Amino acid sequence: MSSPIVAPTAAALALAARHLRAGELVAFPTETVYGLGADAGNPEAVHRIFTAKGRPSDHPLIVHLGDMAQVKRWAREFPEGARRLADAFWPGPLTLILPRAAQVGDAVTGGQDSVGLRMPAHPVAQQLLAAFAALGGSGIAAPSANRFGHVSPTTAQHVRDDLPDTVAMILDGGSCAVGIESTIVAFTSREPVLLRPGGIGIDALTSVLGRAPNAPGADSPRASGTLDSHYAPHAPALLIDPADLLQEVARRTASGERVAVLARNIARPSAFAGAWITSPPDAPRYAHDLYANLRGLDAPGVTTILIEAVPDNPDWLAVRDRLTRATH
Ligand code: TXA
Ligand code: MG
Repeated sequence: MSSPIVAPTAAALALAARHLRAGELVAFPTETVYGLGADAGNPEAVHRIFTAKGRPSDHPLIVHLGDMAQVKRWAREFPEGARRLADAFWPGPLTLILPRAAQVGDAVTGGQDSVGLRMPAHPVAQQLLAAFAALGGSGIAAPSANRFGHVSPTTAQHVRDDLPDTVAMILDGGSCAVGIESTIVAFTSREPVLLRPGGIGIDALTSVLGRAPNAPGADSPRASGTLDSHYAPHAPALLIDPADLLQEVARRTASGERVAVLARNIARPSAFAGAWITSPPDAPRYAHDLYANLRGLDAPGVTTILIEAVPDNPDWLAVRDRLTRATH
């Protein structure tokens, strides 16, 4: 079965919802990255996600919800701080880790006592969730729709490149507006913990919570997006200080390497014949383009991807996090 890319017409969305209810996988756009969806209430369907991605089956998945009323089907508590974040940022690029409800199975939570919930803002994701709910479904479990450890997909074609034949349908919603994954905040201990920086910045979280979330500690829930090596292209990638970039390119090229470059402020030298992408200089647009740029530079024969380091300030936290993992 090849994974067809389909325009999100009403008929296609209804068919996608039927596929999900039948236990099939459907890839769909969200405002962050594309998700590989399965009926979160169907353990066999959830199991297919792990097989398709090549992902260890003890990694918990995010359950995507269409409305606030569904939270109680999945979480046994909705702490005050989590509720405030949901009111402020849902639908949007925020995932809340909450104590799981009794009826929630181990398949979707990786056996943890918590569940990840997110209400996505992309209209196609919302329409799919509504069509799914109309057939009696509740949440759609969806990790990013890439092979395990690889760069997340931000277009329908990226999904097909990674998962050519395991998805019943790939709904095409264009390129994802945010471009990197959701911010994850855990409410499983007394204080909120930031498990993954993402589409919602720390300042925004802090202003709603009235305090900054804690950094993860040894007892925080694990998250696969927090493995050291993740979001990685196939060719090894290196972060290079802007002041050293041109010298590094020249040195490696002279020694016969075929380098590809993701620059930001440094201009391409006229003598350089390889692939060179100049990213937008601001963090939101840099993030929007990041995964497509990494995929674009990750061509056969490329020996190293050199990435110009980005600023060390809070605006760039989520981008720096992804670049650090991509270059591990
Ligand atoms: O933006 C996003 O979050 C995208 C879109 C599709 O929604 N999804 C995504 O899923 O990035 P995934 O599986 O690639 O990353 C989700 C992260 C993983 O690191 C997972 O371990 C963590 O969320 N997670 C999910 N449930 C969890 C739980 N109960 N406890 C701790 N971490 C959890
Ligand atoms: Mg992922």
